[in-house]
Amino acid sequence: MENIKALILSGGKGTRLRPLTHTMAKQLVPVANKPILGYVFEHIKEAGIRDVGVIVAPETQAEVKAYLGHGEKWDVKITYILQKQPLGLAHAVKTAQKFLKDSPFVMYLGDNLLGKGIKEALDKFRKTAYDALLFLKKVPNPGAFGVAVLNGKGRIKKLIEKPKNPPSNLALVGVYLFSPRIHEAIGRIQPSWRGELEITDAIQELIHMGARVEGEVLDCWWLDTGKKDDFLAANTTVLDDYVKRQVDGFVDEKSEVSGRVHVDATARVINSVIRGPVIIGPGVEIVDSFIGPYTSIGEGTRITNSVIEHSVILSQVIVEGVPRLEDSILGREAKIIKNQTRHKALRLMVGDQSLVEV
Ligand code: G1P
Repeated sequence: MENIKALILSGGKGTRLRPLTHTMAKQLVPVANKPILGYVFEHIKEAGIRDVGVIVAPETQAEVKAYLGHGEKWDVKITYILQKQPLGLAHAVKTAQKFLKDSPFVMYLGDNLLGKGIKEALDKFRKTAYDALLFLKKVPNPGAFGVAVLNGKGRIKKLIEKPKNPPSNLALVGVYLFSPRIHEAIGRIQPSWRGELEITDAIQELIHMGARVEGEVLDCWWLDTGKKDDFLAANTTVLDDYVKRQVDGFVDEKSEVSGRVHVDATARVINSVIRGPVIIGPGVEIVDSFIGPYTSIGEGTRITNSVIEHSVILSQVIVEGVPRLEDSILGREAKIIKNQTRHKALRLMVGDQSLVEV
């Protein structure tokens, strides 16, 4: 089989992760202090793919390019492809046709995180004559995804995008392997009710065309990081899976660091308790505080006299005198400060579409 290319989707507006995505591409939001796209590219590299197209949107292309560069970090060659409007996943493939040519390819949605790589699936795809190999995962809320119905042998009979009455609990994972026949199928479909050319409809069309479309149920975790709670769940899962104990930074003798905690060499922990799994990025300062399990703290953040658990704190944040912060996401340069005056009141300056629970 001809060399397999990769098409990474890193466009869209990320409306379900606002306000973070007002100023940041959703694919660059960090999970365990690493942008989600970083995990995607590790899988691409590990699968031996060299030729990678990246779909970008006008609003966020600059920062996506700043992070990925030409692909040298992962030893791949990146071609950027601008999708001017978010008109759907199948539309993205159409936009990338000049790059994809007649190659088989893996399409990987840049906001999806998988517990294992794609090498095995790729090897299987190479050996077969499938026109599509899809990953599926049993989920409790299939209506939020594309849903597949299988025949007994793993062949896909039917696919529906976000059905009101899901015919199965098998969701379509955002990683797809395609032969070039997908282009013909895309040419035959119409936009859906949400105005998008859906890849799910294109695959359904492939089935109509008599093509061989197979599904493989994933035996590892899968997370679509699109919303706040999913995103916190992703952070928890990744910290659980990947963080090893490595305390390189300065920890004073009054502090206690227990469990799987990663402290960057330039971070400082003073008179504080850290219970893993926790990751603490470069230049972070933790003073007189407790950092509980499942917390990621980004570069240059300073936490004093506070308690934080199960949260994602991005870079350059200040948290001061906050008695208990849980299940929270704080964007870059956010400040959460206890007010010290006698007149107790909440004083907020909250960005568009933020969520504050008091
Ligand atoms: C897209 C696909 C859907 C798939 C999901 C996986 O949904 O349309 O079929 O299950 O990705 O992340 P979207 O994120 O566009 O709502």
